[in-house]
This record gives sequence, C-alpha cells and structure tokens, in this order.
Amino acid sequence: MCPQGRAGSSPVSGTKKPALSGLIYFCEMMIDNIKKYLEEVKKFHSEKPEEIEAFRIKFAGKKGVLNQLFAEFKNVPPQEKPQYGQLLNQLKKEVNTKVKELKNKAGKTSSVSKDKTDLTKPGFPHPLGARHPVNIVKNRIIDIFRRIGFNVSEGPEIEDDWHNFTALNLPEHHPARDMQDTFFVQTNPDYLLRTHTSSVQIRYMEKHQPPIRTISPGRVYRNEDISARSHIQFHQVEGLYIDTNVSFADLKQTLLYFTREMFGKSQIRLRPSYFPFTEPSAEVDIYWGLETETDYRITKGTGWLEIMGAGMVDPNVLKNMNIDPDKYSGFAFGMGVERIAMLLYQIPDIRMLFENDIRFLEQFKHSL
Ligand code: DAH
Repeated sequence: MCPQGRAGSSPVSGTKKPALSGLIYFCEMMIDNIKKYLEEVKKFHSEKPEEIEAFRIKFAGKKGVLNQLFAEFKNVPPQEKPQYGQLLNQLKKEVNTKVKELKNKAGKTSSVSKDKTDLTKPGFPHPLGARHPVNIVKNRIIDIFRRIGFNVSEGPEIEDDWHNFTALNLPEHHPARDMQDTFFVQTNPDYLLRTHTSSVQIRYMEKHQPPIRTISPGRVYRNEDISARSHIQFHQVEGLYIDTNVSFADLKQTLLYFTREMFGKSQIRLRPSYFPFTEPSAEVDIYWGLETETDYRITKGTGWLEIMGAGMVDPNVLKNMNIDPDKYSGFAFGMGVERIAMLLYQIPDIRMLFENDIRFLEQFKHSL
C-alpha cells in the first residue's frame, strides 16, 4: 500500500488536489497504471499474428511498458517497493502467458504460420549417385548401334524352351544345349531363365518382318560356378540384321565399326566357330596390343582378345520364323557386357560387379 491518503480514498477530493507528497502521489499513479495495464492485458484478444506481435512489442518489447515500469522501480519509495514489484511481476507474467496462449491458438488456425517450410531456402544437396559400370557399357553399346539404325528390343528373363532353344535351331536333345548350363523352373521345366538374349531375337522376328535391325540388351543366367571370371548372371547385347542381300562382308564391316567406336581399335579377326543359330559362325577377336604388362596379362601374351560370337543367321532359324531364306539373309552377334566392362575399367573380378559395394560403384561417378 502507498502511504496514507491514497488518491482514491483521500477525504479531500474534488477540485482540490490531495495534499500528498510528490513521491507518494507518483507512487499512487504508477500502481494505478499497472492495474490498468493488467486489465488491458486480461481483456486483450486476437487471432491475427500481426496484432499479437504488436501487443507483445507494446508490453514486452525493448522499449515496452514492462521495461519502462521496471526502470521506474528505483524511484519507488522503499516501503512501496514490495507492492510495486509484486504487481509488476504479475503484469509481466500475464503478458507472457497471454502472448504464448494467443500465438499458440493463431498457429493452429493459420496455415501460413503452421507451414514452417521456407520455400525460398536453398535445399540440402543430395549426394550424387553413379551409374553402374554394366549400365554405362550397355548404354554405350546401344548408342553405337543406334547410330547405324539399330533399334532396341527387350524380352522376358523367364523364357520358354521354344524361344531360348528350339526356335534357335537347338531342338530337344541337341548336344549344343549343354554349351549353356541352364536353370530350369523346377515346377515346369519347359520354362527356364534365359541363357542368352538370342531369345529376344526370336520374339522380335515373330512380330516383325525384314528389314530387321535390332539389338537386344538384357540379363541372362547360367548354372556355372561363380569365380573371378564367371558368374551365374551377367548381361548380353545381341544384334540381328536381316534384309535382302546381307552378306558376311556386312557383318565384318559392322563389327569393325563397333570395335573402332567402342575400343578405339580397328583390327579384328574372325575365327571359325560353331553356334547352332548361325552358319557360318565366328568368334570375334580384337587386336588389343602388347604395350603394357596388363595387355600381356589379359591377352595371354597374344595381343588378341575375344569379345563376341557372331555369324550369318542359319536358314533354319529364318524358316522357323516364317522368313523366306531364299529372299532374305542376315547376320547376328552377341557379346557379354561384363566382360567388356572388365576390360575397359580393368576390373579384375566379375563378382565386384554384383556386390554393390558403394566404394567400388562410386568410382564410376564421372563416367557417362
Ligand atoms: N548367344 C551366344 C551366347 O550366348 C552368343 C552369340 C553368338 C549370339 C553368335 C549370336 C551369335 O547372335 O550370332 O553364347
């Protein structure tokens, strides 16, 4: 309480000023002020964030009411300090609770303040991924053949016997079936995991008549022991070209074009070989050179590297597909993508291509 004779309870009232000392009068005023402020705070209500903020600044801002009143504290007569201080603390508390309460409410209703995302902020950088080396090589092969008019065809990995073997001139019990150790579907051995993408060539010929120029990339499976050189799964790209007057010279020229583009090497040799679906058939070697120790190692000291099989499409295959072998001829070729990737990137073990070790894969970040 202020000293006796508070303004309101003074016996002397009306026009006459109360006979109070300046200090006490000042004290009365300040306390009344705080009470008025308390009323104002209690009554204040708004859901508009900008109004709430204005209210906060008025009371709790740097030059706000609270700070001003606290600054006056030193002028309050000592006996009044407890009451003044108590009221002032109450005001401060009320202001803070009110601001908090109103801000909470406004935050819940206003979608603007709920959404804390600042769309203008720069995003977090995502680590750059890398293409898998098998894909890099596959894409390069596709690109090279696209440039000379080949399109891309694809087919299923679970194949039937007809597309994988019989139609390709490999009838049942043909000994050449053993060349490709096959995974059969246990419940129905007429189905298998394709052993080569030559099956896609059959599917393509079922749907298209010559001229045909297509390459078939894809994953294939063979029941082999896994080692540094061989795996039960790998990728192939096979090519097929059928038209009138397609000759072995066309095959050779196409392969030469490919080896130039792919490896920058322009010397190839064709060694006679056997594939049931081509006649004549050949293994294609490129001259890699003997310049470095690695060249010696990978070519076994010969300088030559085998990179694919090829040949002229066997007339029996054309007949199977209702393409007249007297009118049309064609060539086909097939290569292993992993083998080429291992050569180009000097990868010593095929298993590295299937382990998905980030430390290995990251090295291909800057390859296209
Ligand atoms: N399909 C053969 C294999 O997987 C590769 C091959 C050889 C494909 C000669 C061809 C070809 O199209 O003409 O071993």
